[in-house]
Amino acid sequence: MRMVDIIVNKREGLENTQAEIDFLINGYVKGDIPDYQISSWLMATFFQGMSDDEAFYLTKAMLYSGDVIDLSMIDGVKVDKHSTGGVGDKTTLVLGPLVASVGAKVAKLSGRGLGHTGGTLDKMESIEGMSIDIPEDRFIHQVNDINIAVAGQTKKLVPADKLLYALRDVTGTVPSKPLIASSIMSKKLASGADVICLDVKIGDGAFMKTLDDAKDLSEIMVAIGNSFGKKVTAFITDMDQPLGMTIGNRLEVKEAMETLAGHGPEDLETLCVNIASYMIYYAHKADSLEEAKQLAYDQLHNGQALAKFHEFVEAQGGTVPVLDKFITVDEIIPYKAKKAGYIKRIKALNIGLASMKLGGGRETKEDDIDPNVGIVLHQKVGDLVKVGDTVCDIYKNKRWSDDILELLDEAYEIVEEEIQTPDTIKTIIG
Ligand code: URA
Repeated sequence: MRMVDIIVNKREGLENTQAEIDFLINGYVKGDIPDYQISSWLMATFFQGMSDDEAFYLTKAMLYSGDVIDLSMIDGVKVDKHSTGGVGDKTTLVLGPLVASVGAKVAKLSGRGLGHTGGTLDKMESIEGMSIDIPEDRFIHQVNDINIAVAGQTKKLVPADKLLYALRDVTGTVPSKPLIASSIMSKKLASGADVICLDVKIGDGAFMKTLDDAKDLSEIMVAIGNSFGKKVTAFITDMDQPLGMTIGNRLEVKEAMETLAGHGPEDLETLCVNIASYMIYYAHKADSLEEAKQLAYDQLHNGQALAKFHEFVEAQGGTVPVLDKFITVDEIIPYKAKKAGYIKRIKALNIGLASMKLGGGRETKEDDIDPNVGIVLHQKVGDLVKVGDTVCDIYKNKRWSDDILELLDEAYEIVEEEIQTPDTIKTIIG
């Protein structure tokens, strides 16, 4: 088999066979096929797309390029969730303890944040002592013991994705739906769960900008998961504005804890209760989705979900934060509305970038982050403001750059006509 023929087949719109895709992925991981040929195939794939079969073969080849976690030692149905990446997205910190509190088994591998999006591991590590480095046997023991463990992905998990993603990043081929779907699903499948809930974000701060694109991506991911015998549900959710009211690691942990205590912002609670209902129902911890939803809501309001969060933090070596002492910044700068009217937009991308420039996120993988800094919103889209009202607070330590204020100026769009509060969940697929 020759790589050039595989590229030509794809360029001409023919389907690549399973053998061709295996050859390409194995050869690339071993270093036998050079970047320039894989780049060419990626671009041909970007334009020609992939059939469902090809997306399945690619996912399978990537999945078996490294370790596949064996969760068979965990009793019961294993549930997992994945977000395609957002701003202010602290869902895992709420959902994980919430579904674990009713007995579903959460064995989750998470990632770090890069650019304008945050990552669960960084939020966890902002809690004193909390470790994300757990050996596999302890990880499994912890899930059997308290129903939840969240750890960092090892380097051995889907090495093909690390190589391909880095190449896609520099060849303009990241936004291909089958490539995104196989990248996400290979990692989820390698993590070993039986039930997978996908949170596919749409909007300014997300990969997918339109509902149609998000639906296409979701359908590909659900089909791939089903081909592997997994129950997969995709929630297409709003990322035209940040999720919740906080952006920045400790600010988000605090908001997650408030949500677990039943005092969270409406959009975050709605999202978590709805995704939790599917995880709880498919883990056979309720007889219907309605019952599961009520159970999820009750656990947030009866102290059980927060109690599980405490157990989870302590099991991973952390000290549960005392919230009024948790965040230490030199200065809190109010950012005020320059216009009266209804908030039409709070661009998630700009808010994420502003938080990154304060030191709350990473521009490159090597950057250090300051867990204390970030942005706290005072209103959301649809709210009415007057000139001079504080629309957000900037939590600042040492780092500052002048374009932070420009980013916020551009983030807010305020108009005279009344604006409806957007739906957090646009649709559900699967
Ligand atoms: N997230 C991933 O893990 N992979 C992609 O290709 C895009 C988003």
